[in-house]
Amino acid sequence: MKTYHVITFGCQMNERDSETIAGMLEDMGYVYTEDPKSADAVVLNTCSVRENADKRFFGVLGQLKNPHEARPGMMVCVCGCMMQQQHIIDQLKAKYSWVDLAFGTHNLASFPELFKNASSEKKHIIDIWQEGRAISEGLPAARAYDFKAYVNIMQGCNNFCSYCIVPYTRGRERSRRPEAVLSELRQLAASGCKEVMLLGQNVNSYGRARSVEGSYCAETDEPHLDFAGLLREADKIEGIERIRFMTSHPKDLSDDLIDCFRDLKHLCRQIHLPVQSGSTKVLKEMNRVYDREKYLSLVRKLREACPEIAISTDIIVGFPGETEEDFQDTLSLVEEVRYDSAFTFIYSVRQGTPAAERKDQVPEEVKHERFNRLIDAIHRIQEEKAEQYRDAELYVLTEGFSRTDDTMLTGHTESGRVVDFPGDPSLIGKMVKVRITKPQTFSLYGEVIGQEA
Ligand code: SAH
Ligand code: SF4
Ligand code: F3S
Repeated sequence: MKTYHVITFGCQMNERDSETIAGMLEDMGYVYTEDPKSADAVVLNTCSVRENADKRFFGVLGQLKNPHEARPGMMVCVCGCMMQQQHIIDQLKAKYSWVDLAFGTHNLASFPELFKNASSEKKHIIDIWQEGRAISEGLPAARAYDFKAYVNIMQGCNNFCSYCIVPYTRGRERSRRPEAVLSELRQLAASGCKEVMLLGQNVNSYGRARSVEGSYCAETDEPHLDFAGLLREADKIEGIERIRFMTSHPKDLSDDLIDCFRDLKHLCRQIHLPVQSGSTKVLKEMNRVYDREKYLSLVRKLREACPEIAISTDIIVGFPGETEEDFQDTLSLVEEVRYDSAFTFIYSVRQGTPAAERKDQVPEEVKHERFNRLIDAIHRIQEEKAEQYRDAELYVLTEGFSRTDDTMLTGHTESGRVVDFPGDPSLIGKMVKVRITKPQTFSLYGEVIGQEA
């Protein structure tokens, strides 16, 4: 029996794409193996959002060279966001010409055909499309879990934040038809899935633009469902107990969507709302299209509609031209919002983006020093907020064994906090009620006090 392994870098959308790749390989008769070096087919699904991601990819790829040489017939394939950039393809051709197949984000659906051609004809194939077409439906998927699932609702991004590579690697924004999304959700529910995460680079603009022929447009196509409308339909599906989504862009967060947090039974009281910076000047230069005040007013509205909502964010430090004063604006925004959690990134120059051209790049040591001050503030707030969970009784979807202690089970609260607790492995996949006994900054400890019927 032939074996495969998929290595995924990057965001949830890449993880979801990797499930499709795994599904295609299984349809071709391959079975999963833990060890990439002994696999007959390895696929590396890449991310290019920051320089670190690029470097890690080349490191991991390099380690496959010897096993590939030693075992004729082993297929090494690379795909994903990095492949959409010419300078990466040039590097691949120059230094990694032994790679069997390279394809991009827009021709994932052709993977089985490309794979068969590359393996049967023993030739090296590089096939990258410059632009995406309508979204392919009905592709197979070997999903990571059966009780929770990622569901893509759109592809691409039209926002062109001045630091970001994604619009270049993922192409123009395209939405899936609502019937396709809802029928996938119904199928998942029927097979026992309890939690879904709806995915897109900017889910709030779902159905807004038909920038690619064949994609869905809520204005002209029936049914006229925007993102809030799609959520209201998803909420009616029996069996789906938790609905989450990623990512929301503040510029498109409508009042209707905010109301969903108050009205919908299954929508988790949790939102990831990347702010990127607390400085209106920097936000403008980032092309984020909202300012500090607009962002803070959205946070107020969310908390008015749903006082218990957990808010998380992404922040970049050291964007070109960021002064100490701009950075202080970010710190004060963090203090004002009091995030439940935040992903913080040091600005990374991405070739081909407008911000990369700027001459006023912030020196490395300044970026690091600001970064450390920012995470200190974020962790302090996160720790203070964790204390609010002491003795709370909360529902947790049991997902598996704890990462830090494999004698413990782990799962997430509705608000997205990790909870570790002792329990029988038969609880995996079940919703349990847990009392929190020990709240910590990054995870809560608790004990099971009840279980769903
Ligand atoms: N579509 C999502 C974000 C996708 S990328 C959104 O707009 O919210 C995830 C995060 O990576 C971004 O929110 C940003 O904080 C960070 N990021 C993107 N490009 C970056 C860069 N060049 N340097 C550092 N961080 C970056
Ligand atoms: Fe990148 Fe901005 Fe699009 Fe997010 S919205 S993917 S940060 S360009
Ligand atoms: Fe990375 Fe591409 Fe996602 S650049 S963050 S894998 S969209």
